[in-house]
Amino acid sequence: MPFYITTPIYYVNAAPHLGHAYTAIAADVLARHQRQRGEDVFFLTGTDEHGEPVAIAAEEQGVAPIELADRNSQRFQDLMPLLDVSNDFFIRTTDPEHIRRVQEVLTRVRENGYVYEGTYEGWYCPRCADFKTEAEIGPGNTCPIHKIPLTREREDNWFFELSAFQGELERLFDERPDFVMPRHRYNEARAFLAGGLQDVSLTRPKLRWGVEVPWDRSQVFYVWFDALLNYYTALGFARGRQQDLTGRFWPATYHIIGKDILKFHTIYWPALLMAAGLPVPEHVFVHGFLLTPSEDGGEGEKMSKSRGNVIDPFKVIEDFGADALRFYLAREVAFGQDGPVSESGFMTRYETELANDYGNLASRTIAMIRRYRDGRLPATEHDPALVADFEGLVETVCAHLDRAEITTALEEIWKRVRRLNRYVEERAPWQLAKDPEQAAELDRVLATLHEGVRIVTVLLAPYLPGATAKLMAALGRTGPDDLRIDAARWTPAPIEVEALEPLFPKR
Ligand code: MSP
Repeated sequence: MPFYITTPIYYVNAAPHLGHAYTAIAADVLARHQRQRGEDVFFLTGTDEHGEPVAIAAEEQGVAPIELADRNSQRFQDLMPLLDVSNDFFIRTTDPEHIRRVQEVLTRVRENGYVYEGTYEGWYCPRCADFKTEAEIGPGNTCPIHKIPLTREREDNWFFELSAFQGELERLFDERPDFVMPRHRYNEARAFLAGGLQDVSLTRPKLRWGVEVPWDRSQVFYVWFDALLNYYTALGFARGRQQDLTGRFWPATYHIIGKDILKFHTIYWPALLMAAGLPVPEHVFVHGFLLTPSEDGGEGEKMSKSRGNVIDPFKVIEDFGADALRFYLAREVAFGQDGPVSESGFMTRYETELANDYGNLASRTIAMIRRYRDGRLPATEHDPALVADFEGLVETVCAHLDRAEITTALEEIWKRVRRLNRYVEERAPWQLAKDPEQAAELDRVLATLHEGVRIVTVLLAPYLPGATAKLMAALGRTGPDDLRIDAARWTPAPIEVEALEPLFPKR
């Protein structure tokens, strides 16, 4: 089955921060999981380079927009392998192929009768690059997201007739209750729709930094339409001119986005696709914000570069590795909700869960097989009590991840990690080892532990690609199918293990 997953494309007005790493990691967990299931996966990420936010930042720094875009896009491209993110392509909206395809699709939208000339007057946030509706304006005409004054804009431009899609969008939401996930975000999008759609600017006359409108060279496309189309245009040129992936992967299975860009992805985007005569995506999954904990114990505020209250992902990776960051972000904040993150929270999870619960479990298991059995065990039946506690685990994890519930799926796996730790304490192999009559029982306990560790490791591979690969190598399982989801089953087989360095060294 084709599985096409995307992240938002990141603005290049500044360097990457933790919020960007968050979306990329979440999408990567889902992409890696679907690959484990043998699906035909395409995973796209990239940078959003046109428009006002970038033009303003470039001007402030006294450089040409393309210079700033090149510099910062490179930082995002460098971040992906550091995060162990396995994207299949990285699109830049300054790619000439993208530009050409944006012009093509939007010309088609015009030919289909959904574009007209008009005058826009209203409130605009230059940082969101968003024309705000009355309902979206904060106190004193400010942007509710950036808390800066909105500007009053009046300009002659081309409009997209969004209002023509009111009925079709309502039908889409009625027929496909999982078009937007989770449920509270579906309701939010639905409420926006219920407020009645107004037409939106498709082009902007004053800006030069954008994709030229082919039928009116005095204008460029409004950056959001240029940006949204990346999900579609990329498939046309990601593999060069010879291979067009559109037929294979369109429409997208999942767009993963943050809650601040919900309106664009759940309303504008499907309407634009309808106007172009293209199929709409299967799901838009909307995640929450990572917040900095507030000192008064309150809700905290959105982490953002401009407010300087960030955990630096580059630094965390340097000190603790990509797995630790991936794990923390997937685990700490329920995916889909807002939640606080902090360095102390990170350290606690690192030490208690990664180093102790999992890393130590793996080290002890291997060390005991080496100490008591020279690293080898014959094929042995596993302890039915433990096997029973893993019943249905694979199916549950798959079901959660089919719904992009990465935190819930991880908790299901972690329950088994904790169960294995209890098993070690309950069965105390070091006691069994003292009694020669218990030799067969010791074999069985060690084989059961080994197998339990191997199963959770297969399931953890999308979250912890680095550590799980090391551990699988120590278990002698480096074959092409060893990380497939089908390998996460109890299978009696001869065992041979090798020494393992601590997966998550204590700091
Ligand atoms: N360029 C647009 C997206 C265009 S997609 C066609 C954009 N870029 S962004 O760089 O500002 O944000 C990219 C993603 O990072 C968004 O989904 C946003 O929600 C996410 N995050 C940025 N800060 C965040 C947090 N503090 N927490 C979680 N994610 C947040 O929007």
